[in-house]
Amino acid sequence: MPTPSLLILAGDGIGPEVMTEVKKIIGWFGDKRGMAFDVQEDLVGGVAYDAHGTPLHDDTMARAQAADAVLLGAVGGPKYDALDFSVKPERGLLRLRKEMDLFANLRPAQCFDALADFSSLKKDVVAGLDIMIVRELTSGIYFGEPRGIFEERGERVGLNTQRYTEGEIARVARAAFDLARKRSGRVCSMEKANVMESGILWREVVQAVHDADYPDVELSHMYADAGAMQLCRWPKQFDVIVTDNLFGDLLSDAAAMLTGSLGMLPSASLGAPMENGRPKALYEPVHGSAPDIAGQGKANPIACILSFAMALRYSFDMGNEADRLEKAVERVLAEGKRTADLLGGEGVQPVTTSEMGDAVVAALNTSL
Ligand code: IPM
Ligand code: MG
Repeated sequence: MPTPSLLILAGDGIGPEVMTEVKKIIGWFGDKRGMAFDVQEDLVGGVAYDAHGTPLHDDTMARAQAADAVLLGAVGGPKYDALDFSVKPERGLLRLRKEMDLFANLRPAQCFDALADFSSLKKDVVAGLDIMIVRELTSGIYFGEPRGIFEERGERVGLNTQRYTEGEIARVARAAFDLARKRSGRVCSMEKANVMESGILWREVVQAVHDADYPDVELSHMYADAGAMQLCRWPKQFDVIVTDNLFGDLLSDAAAMLTGSLGMLPSASLGAPMENGRPKALYEPVHGSAPDIAGQGKANPIACILSFAMALRYSFDMGNEADRLEKAVERVLAEGKRTADLLGGEGVQPVTTSEMGDAVVAALNTSL
């Protein structure tokens, strides 16, 4: 087997800082577990715009297509707010998702016991929470045509189009059902079939895929607004949630916060299998570039570290090593180590981004 390749795109804001910690972890697996990765690095987002005048250079796109997995930090920042829409940092990320055809975005929301007090919800509502949001990532209103800002009868009109084909709905539904079979076997599909035709089709197709191939999985449907409410009321009723690109964006931020901090949540974006059998894949934290705290050593690297754990599990078939890394993170949190996003208790001194990375490495050492 050739050495698996990893393309690191640290991006903007806190991206490079949290990625520095992930590189420590990757190095640890190479040194201590004999799992070497061929790691390459490149630019995405604002830093790519600064260097090349585009948020994703064609060469970078080609390297991402060729890599066994891409690890991304974050994109965006106030410095780029005034840029033309077509070269905004976010366009780089959206191009990666679209051209790699990463249609299934897995966003787990898990509440670590040590952090149950940090949620804005009551402890018994979130303790032990373990849900998986499967967000469609390459279609819907993010990409639908027509789109743009037009002049119409003397005023400007902003237009975006929510569009889904049956095939696009069916493949993400399958991804959700497959995952549910490895979990508690329940899927809740969310759309707005009460007001949107795309939602009606979504519901029909998800149900049809279920009835044909996944009768063993328990399927329910919910309007996305009710889903948001239920996520706050009693999130443990859910196992896997499958939903479209825009609703998934919103619902996953809400679900993330249930767990106490956006700084904790990883994600995997998966596409079709490549020739070597591995899925096209990009791993990134759910949090953004957090420009307000960038460069201060305050960022929580755990979401990005856990994204690498997802890479071990979903790209490299190393579920046991992913478990090892997740347990190391759990141990560090149980020891009371907290970055600044997780402070609450009186007199608790935060650890820095790099101290948190070192603590995870130390916990990994004790796992041997
Ligand atoms: C996310 C982010 C992105 C999105 C942005 C940065 C383009 O919010 O991954 O959830 O809207 O998909
Ligand atoms: Mg988002």
